Amino acid sequence: MYIPNYAVANTYGPNTSVIFRAMTLTASGRVAIEELLERLKLSGGGEALLPSFICAAVIEAFNRQKVKIRYYSVNKNLEININELNSRINKSTKLLYLVHYFGFPDKLFELQAMAKAKNILLIEDCAHALFSKAAGKYLGTIGDGAVFSLRKFLPLPDGGGYILRSGTGLGGASRSAHSFTGNNWPHLKLLLKEVMFRLGLNPMIVNGGPKPARPDPANKFISFSSVKKIEQTDEARLVAGRRRNFQFYLMNIANLGGVSPIFNSLPAGVDPFAFPVLLNGRDQVVDRLKRKGIYLEATFSDSPSSDPGAKYLADHLLSLPVYQGLADRQLRCVLSELGKAVCLVGAA
Ligand SMILES: Cc1ncc(COP(=O)(O)O)c(C=O)c1O
Repeated sequence: MYIPNYAVANTYGPNTSVIFRAMTLTASGRVAIEELLERLKLSGGGEALLPSFICAAVIEAFNRQKVKIRYYSVNKNLEININELNSRINKSTKLLYLVHYFGFPDKLFELQAMAKAKNILLIEDCAHALFSKAAGKYLGTIGDGAVFSLRKFLPLPDGGGYILRSGTGLGGASRSAHSFTGNNWPHLKLLLKEVMFRLGLNPMIVNGGPKPARPDPANKFISFSSVKKIEQTDEARLVAGRRRNFQFYLMNIANLGGVSPIFNSLPAGVDPFAFPVLLNGRDQVVDRLKRKGIYLEATFSDSPSSDPGAKYLADHLLSLPVYQGLADRQLRCVLSELGKAVCLVGAA
């Protein structure tokens, strides 16, 4: 009997967030980037301008699509210098790629105007910015296209997506395919982790919640069970939980010497991906915390650029988890163990 490997999804219920409805779902963010580039037909020529602080998975996706890359600078506060970026745009530039680091938009509307004036495509990378808004609009709906990594915000073993604005002449949402026969073992493993996490039995409680392995770009289709979970996501609850956790750090971080937050406030509309801090001896601190069962991420430590801002971030940035399922006692534990680790590393 013939069993189809995928079927058309997008049969969402009435409570499914509008941002999901606008997306074509994929197995991961990296696959979403590739599909978006394919639909934009960029492999034929032209260059893309990417920020110097970026994860290797993005670059690999551009490389697989044979799109040439150049970089613009990002300073150690994750800010773009518009004049510097402007000076990098030339006749070959066809696409400006913007990463909304940690869910915070930076100069988005100025960059939108610049891209329009220069007649280049603006693509928003919302891997860190699910449900975040600027001036009341969802991030990912302002540029010509956007990519998402849903598994970074939701307890899913897979899940990414992209949006292509209809004005590009190429797009609008295309229907998503999801895998029926895809690998269900990661789902079971994740479910088990989630149950242990909720029961407080998982020692890796502060790893931002249950986390799957790195996605394989060869898997294109999102799994059926992830689509079901996406449909059921309570956006308001998720955003409120993450904002609450971010604010917990904002209120309590001042007591930790040697740790500097990158963002000192949480503007309305931002759904934070994590609470990023800068510190010396980051890798030793990460190792010490691991020994306590606390797995924190050194976001983009594999960033390939030698740009001074990006290099500083790659070596000093640490992301504290704001996962919506974390309780105050777990956040307190992160801060207290972080404080101890920073002291020990400083003293060593
Ligand atoms: C900024 C950014 N964009 C895109 C991606 C790719 O997302 P995924 O891991 O779901 O493939 C990542 C992930 O690592 C990322 O950090």
